[in-house]
Amino acid sequence: MDAFFKDLGDHVLAEWKHANFSLGSFPAIASAALKRMPPSENVDLESFLPAFLLDDAQPFQTESGFGEPEVVAYDHPRFYVQLLFWMDGTTAIHQHEFSGAFHVLRGSSIHSQFDFLNVRPVTPYFRVGDLRMKKIDLLETGATVQIRSGPKCIHSLFHLDAPSVTVVIRTQNDPGTAPQFNYHPPHVALDPLLSDALTMRRRQVLDVLEQTADPTYTDLVLEMIRELDFERGFYILQTSRPYLQDLGDWDNALASFVAKHGRIADGIGATLEEASRRETIRGLRAHIAEPEHRFFLALLMNADSLPAVLAVVAKRFPEQPPEATVLRWAKELIEFPDDDVELLDARFRDHSPETILAVLEAMMKKNSRRARGITQAEWDEIRAEFASSSLRVLAAPAS
Ligand SMILES: [Fe+2]
Repeated sequence: MDAFFKDLGDHVLAEWKHANFSLGSFPAIASAALKRMPPSENVDLESFLPAFLLDDAQPFQTESGFGEPEVVAYDHPRFYVQLLFWMDGTTAIHQHEFSGAFHVLRGSSIHSQFDFLNVRPVTPYFRVGDLRMKKIDLLETGATVQIRSGPKCIHSLFHLDAPSVTVVIRTQNDPGTAPQFNYHPPHVALDPLLSDALTMRRRQVLDVLEQTADPTYTDLVLEMIRELDFERGFYILQTSRPYLQDLGDWDNALASFVAKHGRIADGIGATLEEASRRETIRGLRAHIAEPEHRFFLALLMNADSLPAVLAVVAKRFPEQPPEATVLRWAKELIEFPDDDVELLDARFRDHSPETILAVLEAMMKKNSRRARGITQAEWDEIRAEFASSSLRVLAAPAS
């Protein structure tokens, strides 16, 4: 076992034992320990990793699939210390069935925190409600954040560097705080561990029908939506949405679902649309290597408002106004396929890059279009294209 993590774990054990292993005290104890003995100043990964590979005297390792990977550095029946490596990307928006604190050992991350309001449970594994972002921030190396179990601490991390490494001091499990919901903005919470093999197989059979262009596909999906309960109907909608959109049958399918289930189904369309927007951004990130552009995409995926985007950009790139930084990225990312102008997945026909960037600047600075010589038609068309793309968060409200 690594000597630093042995000292850190033993210190936490002594402090928590002194507090009679009270669950409520653990996040503060874990956080204070990480600040007193910061791993970012005390752990040299270049010697920790070879020692982990070569020394057999290691703490008990879990079979967790979280992290890329997870390495346990200290274990005790009541808590453990883990290193989580992240090579690319993002955690789902989630809550925890454990508590403690995490510390950024290497790299940096966009950290988003949420509330889930107006909660209506549908099944033990499925809730609807309103997911609201309460804070988005940049976590740099050395930052420490407390974790509380249950819905009071809902968050996601988007890791900006590869690898990003976090150290987590966490309880084994906090009784009564399961399931560890994942949140799908803006309206759905799902238990990721729900095992429903029949629904999984049905979704796979629908994929077969899609790939063989079966002419009965839409009718079968509509019949399933009529027959199935809310939870399973949702999963069928989730699977079939892209193909039904290609077929022009999506609006009808969603309307059937809402007609069957009423008000509780109101947010399902928006949730599946947002999932698709995030998937598009994930796809774009696969083709874009420039770190600043990847940071921009991460913000487009995670920030829920223009002020949030600008605040995080200003923190990461303080040397110039954030609007100028975003404009520079937009200019660098513009492409010209088939005489159109393309900015990520937004496609502009009959507009020059200069006009598109002028509209973007006016939207970000809340300038009037007239001051910049933009016509009403140019404003409306360009704003609408921003609003229906991955760049939606930058679009001004429709006037
Ligand atoms: Fe977490």
